[in-house]
Amino acid sequence: MTKSRDTILVTGGAGYIGAHAVKALKRSGYEVIVLDNLVYGHADVVKDVLDVPLVIGDTNDRALLDDLFARYSFSAVMHFAAYAYVGESVTNPAKYYRNNVTGTLTLLEAMVAASVKNFVFSSTCATYGVPESVPITEDQPQNPINPYGMTKLMVERILADFDPAYGLKSVCFRYFNAAGADPDGQLGENHDPETHLIPLVLQTALGEREAISVFGTDYPTPDGTCIRDYIHVSDLADAHVLGTDYLLKGGDSQVFNLGNGNGFSVKEVIATARQVTGRKIKVVECDRRPGDPPSLVGSGEKARSMLGWNPQYFDLTDIISHAWVWHQSLHTEN
Ligand SMILES: NC(=O)c1ccc[n+]([C@@H]2O[C@H](COP(=O)([O-])OP(=O)(O)OC[C@H]3O[C@@H](n4cnc5c(N)ncnc54)[C@H](O)[C@@H]3O)[C@@H](O)[C@H]2O)c1
Repeated sequence: MTKSRDTILVTGGAGYIGAHAVKALKRSGYEVIVLDNLVYGHADVVKDVLDVPLVIGDTNDRALLDDLFARYSFSAVMHFAAYAYVGESVTNPAKYYRNNVTGTLTLLEAMVAASVKNFVFSSTCATYGVPESVPITEDQPQNPINPYGMTKLMVERILADFDPAYGLKSVCFRYFNAAGADPDGQLGENHDPETHLIPLVLQTALGEREAISVFGTDYPTPDGTCIRDYIHVSDLADAHVLGTDYLLKGGDSQVFNLGNGNGFSVKEVIATARQVTGRKIKVVECDRRPGDPPSLVGSGEKARSMLGWNPQYFDLTDIISHAWVWHQSLHTEN
């Protein structure tokens, strides 16, 4: 008799990273159900591209969750659903604590009640705050400098307590800057509003924006602009499949950074985007923004050695080329 396939609940699967993870899970033979409230997600991507069931609902809705856990036998939950605008988290922290912390706690309690024991969580490098040194390893102190990062750290702490108390095993992935798009051109980043550098630069190349603002040109970095770690979204998605496999094989709770290990400055991103697109990209130099560390680069060594993670797209040209194909297709649609 063949074993039935494991079914994974993916919250936030109608969003950017979640959609790429759903595609990777399906490719690895998992069944997937997506739960998304569609505040920022795209239903058509789940239905038409990913072709998996979409449950429209909120992680704060305990009755809906209980019903979902009663209807399906999930082997694990992969939790992308969150709000992720750092600036908004400063002006409206209640929205972030309610969604990212209370919503996650509600989901975890429903899992415990339904005896679903495996959880893969989207954490962030924002939990480190201003790092002591780079590349950042998982053992560095976590001192978030905004409510968004704090919500993610709070969930990490909840998970650390839920394991000994309820036997709920988790993999927390602290991502650096997710970037790029599905190399097949089926999926990509489509945030509204958009705040991430690469899509903003490409929207400028497409003439959808007048210019790209560069915040701070006097940082202690080789060209004076901030250095960030851009990790290809398909490499992130592969890590999530490996994290799920690891938990389903009985692995202990763990925390992993998911970073490229190479930093790129804002000026390098813009120069590469000019090469890839062949377009003019106008730049406006502005003052530094408060709370932007000069350099954030993550070590992904632990995920490589423990999970066998083998990211494919280190090169900024690859990352921006995939994103460019995607943004051109969005531009043509609109
Ligand atoms: N994009 C990055 O660079 C980055 C970096 C670090 C961490 N993260 C984390 O990764 C996750 C995914 O990020 P993304 O860029 O794909 O964001 P996204 O906004 O594209 O996707 C999040 C999805 O979750 C849904 N959602 C939000 N709250 C919900 C709720 N309470 N119930 C149901 N659905 C809900 C949204 O509608 C959206 O489809 C987030 O948790 C984010 O904090 C992202």
